Amino acid sequence: MAGMADPNQIQQDSKKAGLDALLDLLGDDMTRVNEIILENMQSPVSLIPQLAGHIIAAGGKRLRPLLVLASARLCGAEGERQMALAACVEFIHTATLLHDDVVDESDLRRGQASAKAVWGNQASVLVGDFLFSRSFQLMVADGSLKVLKLLSDTAATLAEGEVHQLMTANDTETNEEAYLEVVRAKTASLFAASCQVGAQVAERPDAEEEALRRFGGALGMAFQLVDDILDYTAEVDPKLGKSVGDDFREGKITLPVILAFERGDETEKAFWRRCLEEQDIRDGDLEQALQLLVRHNALEDAKTRAFAYAGEARAAMEIFPESEIRSALLESVDFCVERLY
Ligand code: IPE
Ligand code: IPE
Ligand code: MG
Ligand code: MG
Repeated sequence: MAGMADPNQIQQDSKKAGLDALLDLLGDDMTRVNEIILENMQSPVSLIPQLAGHIIAAGGKRLRPLLVLASARLCGAEGERQMALAACVEFIHTATLLHDDVVDESDLRRGQASAKAVWGNQASVLVGDFLFSRSFQLMVADGSLKVLKLLSDTAATLAEGEVHQLMTANDTETNEEAYLEVVRAKTASLFAASCQVGAQVAERPDAEEEALRRFGGALGMAFQLVDDILDYTAEVDPKLGKSVGDDFREGKITLPVILAFERGDETEKAFWRRCLEEQDIRDGDLEQALQLLVRHNALEDAKTRAFAYAGEARAAMEIFPESEIRSALLESVDFCVERLY
């Protein structure tokens, strides 16, 4: 039964995803985090553990909780606070995925039918709300106002990012700056907070907290940029676990499209407007879009941008002395950009 998933089982995707070094060092902590996740998705209202269990047992990379644990370890945290906070961060992430699949009308998530495809939009939104609320209970239980402020600010920023993206969807006038702001809010903010909270539980000086925040933020930017590139280039990818071409079909304006649109002639601009603004998509249009992206070097240039963020993330790690956990964190940066190959 999904609600009774084995906590050892649900780490699998992190291994598949090439986060082995982090998992090798943090496997025991992650087992505990997965236990906390399972405990906290329980409710006497049976649809909650059913639906939450479905998306949670489907796996996911558990990248954000791994970042919490790794940052805490890097900063020498002792004790157990980071485990509950790692679970808290994964709850925030899972709640946004439940909501995001409704907003994006996505039927595939983590290689399985999305919760909204199985139980419908209403259930997906409401269980998402439940998981969000649980994440707040976990923050409060931690007892640190500093942590509560960081994570609650982040939850608000994240939701803001999703709304901002909704406003820019189908608008080919969206520029790079607006796109990057959306990514910063909807993705990078939670990566940044995951890393920063690790330093906070270890009560490290501000410089370390700031460095980890910068590391996570830049990693998050790279991660989403790569994800947006993969939405055009991946084969129907078992590793990605979601449909390819969704952004195009939904009229989502991502960096590759912004670059190709800017560089296109009037006929090409008209093509993008028809597909993305008017949502009039015909057979062969996705292939045509891909050709235009290639012709204008848009995928390559977006990739270069992602690599620059990855470089920023690596640079932020420089203040920490070499250690196994630092190397593993650096490896996670490679993983995020190597997903492109
Ligand atoms: C998906 O995040 C949402 C994006 C930021 C692109 P992940 O790719 O980390 O999702 P899971 O948790 O591994 O499924
Ligand atoms: C996922 O965003 C949700 C957040 C990052 C908040 P996307 O809509 O870009 O990602 P996928 O493609 O559904 O995972
Ligand atoms: Mg989506
Ligand atoms: Mg979305």
